[in-house]
Formats: sequence, C-alpha cells, structure tokens
Amino acid sequence: MTERGISRRDFAKSAVAIGGASALAACVDRFGSTDAPAGTDPATLPARQHAWDTGLPTDEAGNPRLEHHHVLLLLNYEHDGAPTGRDRQQVTDALHSLERAYAWQADGLQFTLGYSPAYFERFDRDPAGVALPKPTALAPFEDPEPDTPDAILHLASDHEQVVLAAEEALKGNRESVNDHEMAASFDGVFSEQDRRTGFVGAGLPAENQAVDGIPDSEPVPEDAPLFMGFKSGFKENQASENSVTVASGPFSGGTTQHLSFIRLQLQQWYEQDSREQRVSKMFCPAHADEEKVEGVGENLGTDSGAGECAEDVVDRSRREGVAGHAQKTARARDESESPIILRRDFDSTDGGQAGLHFLSLQRSIDDFVATKSMMNGTDVADESAVGQRVNNGILQYMRVERRGNYLLPPRDLRALPPADPA
Ligand code: HEM
Repeated sequence: MTERGISRRDFAKSAVAIGGASALAACVDRFGSTDAPAGTDPATLPARQHAWDTGLPTDEAGNPRLEHHHVLLLLNYEHDGAPTGRDRQQVTDALHSLERAYAWQADGLQFTLGYSPAYFERFDRDPAGVALPKPTALAPFEDPEPDTPDAILHLASDHEQVVLAAEEALKGNRESVNDHEMAASFDGVFSEQDRRTGFVGAGLPAENQAVDGIPDSEPVPEDAPLFMGFKSGFKENQASENSVTVASGPFSGGTTQHLSFIRLQLQQWYEQDSREQRVSKMFCPAHADEEKVEGVGENLGTDSGAGECAEDVVDRSRREGVAGHAQKTARARDESESPIILRRDFDSTDGGQAGLHFLSLQRSIDDFVATKSMMNGTDVADESAVGQRVNNGILQYMRVERRGNYLLPPRDLRALPPADPA
C-alpha cells in the first residue's frame, strides 16, 4: 500500500530514514503539523555551535538527554579554490533563517556545520591552531572507508517533522519553515554526497528493530534508548562542553568531531549471552557480580560507576575472563578523572541494517584516538585470556565501516571558513 508513494511498512520504520518532501508530507498527514517553538535573533545564540546542553531536557537524575531524531548530511562545496564571499553569505543567511524559525532546543532544532581535512586542502594549509588528521583505521581488526566530503551538517530535533523540514529548506525545496521564510538555501553552494539518519531515546530502538543485525525475536527492550539495551551518556561519564572546546587560536570556541558508522550484529548478544554477560561486557564484570545495573540502567543515576572498575583492568580481566566496555574506556580520563570525549551517538537503520552513528566531540582528535585505543584493550587481550574481540567489551558485536574527522568552527566562522581566519 502506498501513501504518497511511500509504503506503509517503510513509513512505520521512520520518516526521517526515508527523507524528502513526500516523507515529510506523509508525516504531516499522519500526525498533523507540529508547531515547534519559534527561534530568535541569531546574534543572541551561544558562540559555540556545540553548545547544546542548555537546550536539552534532563532525565530524572539530571543527565542531559539528546534529541530523538538526527540527520547527517555529508556535503561537497560546489566550487574549486577558496570560497567566495557570496557563497559564505548564502550559507550564513540559510542558517540564520533556521535559527529564526526554530528555538535552539530539543523540541525546536539544534545543528552544527563542520569541515573536513579534504575541505582545508584548497587552502594548501591546515586549519590554524587545530590538528585535523585524515581519518584512519584505529585497530588492527578494522578496515574502515574514510569519509571525505568537504562539510558535514548535523540536524537534531525531538520532532521528525522538524529535521525533515529543515533539511528540505536547506536543499532549496521549501520556501518557509515553522512559518518563517528562508532567506537562502544551500542550493548552488553545497551538494549532497551522502545522507545518514538515526534516532536515540527510550522506545525508538524497539520500534525500529525489524532490521538486519537484530534477531527476528525482536529482543530489544521496550524502554531501551539504544539497540544494545542500555542507557548511555551519564553526566559524569561525559566530557563537558567546556572541556571539549578549542581554547586558543582563531578557531577558539570550536571543537573537533569524529563520526564513525558502526554496524551492529546482535544475534549472540541477545540469543546466547546472559544478562550477566551483557552487563559484564558493556559495563564491567564487578557490576554484573554485584547486580548493580537494573533494566536499562536508569538506576545508575548520573554515573555508570565505570571509574571504579577501571583500575587494574588487566589483572581483573585475568581473573574474570572478560573486560567491560565502559571499564576499558574509563582509562582514558584527564587529571580530574573526567572523560575526554563528549559522546552524541545515535542508532541507525540506514541500509536496513542495525547500526550506530558514533559521533563524538573532543578538543583534539587525539583525545578520540586515545579513548579508542583504551576501548581496543589490546593490552588486556595480550596479557589475559580475553580475546582481541571476544569477551573484550562489545568489540565482537560491532564493525566500524566508516570514519571521518571534522572541525566544528565557532558559530561566527561556520560558513565556509578560511584555514587561517586571523
Ligand atoms: C555500539 C557502540 C557503542 C555503544 C552501544 C556504547 C555504549 C556505552 C555505554 C552503555 C556506556 C556506559 C554508560 C555511559 O558511560 O554512558 C559507555 C561508556 C563509554 N563509551 Fe561507549 N559505546 C559504544 C561505542 C563507543 C566508542 C566507539 C567509543 C570511543 C572510542 C566509546 C567511548 C565510551 C566512553 C569514553 C565511555 C565512558 C567511559 C568513562 O566512564 O570514562 N563508546 N558506552
């Protein structure tokens, strides 16, 4: 059966995953049109594009909760050489229109626009004061494709209609959004290289679990915010927006973004592993022994407790035969015991496969690399009975298919920045 050209089955999966004007129209037909809170004068918004937390709701424990729906557009700048002032103005006008149309908050719209190493090649120099390496493989057992668009736009909202409408407006397919006229679009400046979508939040993974990588028994818990069945992103287990901000140089106020696409294979996770094994592998074996995690883990409050498990991981893994994901990654912390990356990842059904767009912000890409190296746990595998991937956190259930690195400039430099704005 079709509804404006879209099969009901596809529509039930997610309008955002389908995308385009007809998905948006079907969404409006079905749920009525959403009145999102109106935006404001762009000059009053935070200087940091990644300053999202003040616009996010918090859960009962006080952890900020990310928007439910996400679109990532990988974009190419349509012209060779240094960007023109005209193109910069067009991008600025388009983004200002979105900021006037929607409040900078979860039930409105939040977004970032970032630039890749490939973009900066046109200036024959690296961005000033920020190391922005090309993406590479970060483990002996992975072989990801590097993403090489010039730019990346991340759109996020609690409302499917809002991300879809904002995307259509930027592509020049809509003249107004949320009763606000668009002064410009990206048409003629950016072309789309790839489009990725996803969701996060209690109920959404269960609703979207009819995909490859998840057993037909539909085992994802009803209230799980992510496919693997646990809550992620506790306040104490995240870097702060402040600590991931570039502190000096012309891009101060910006940050770096890593994006990987991780394919999930959860057959064994749900059909052979016990709950105890899942808690051991995701958090740490001591959490499983002490039955510290109830359900999806809301009871952990604002701290997963991984910090306490992170000492003597090799010794503990020798005894337990398993190392936890949070346990290993919690070894990558700063002097004040805070994690060094801010995770804003979300699940995906792109291509009909269970996956996760792992998006993280950090002051330097090195901080991501250091964290990933702890997650690999090569030292743990070398010195205990834990395998390279088996019983080594969640490595066995995931495959990194793509990686990309980006600079997210401060808001006033986000439209086609030069490599050295000074
Ligand atoms: C399928 C992919 C992944 C899932 C489902 C996942 C899930 C989780 C969960 C449930 C936690 C514990 C709760 C929390 O602290 O938020 C956690 C912690 C963490 N994860 Fe992941 N994760 C994934 C991939 C990654 C990747 C690729 C990295 C980066 C290399 C990463 C870095 C971290 C860090 C830094 C922590 C917190 C450690 C600390 O407490 O210091 N995760 N993850």
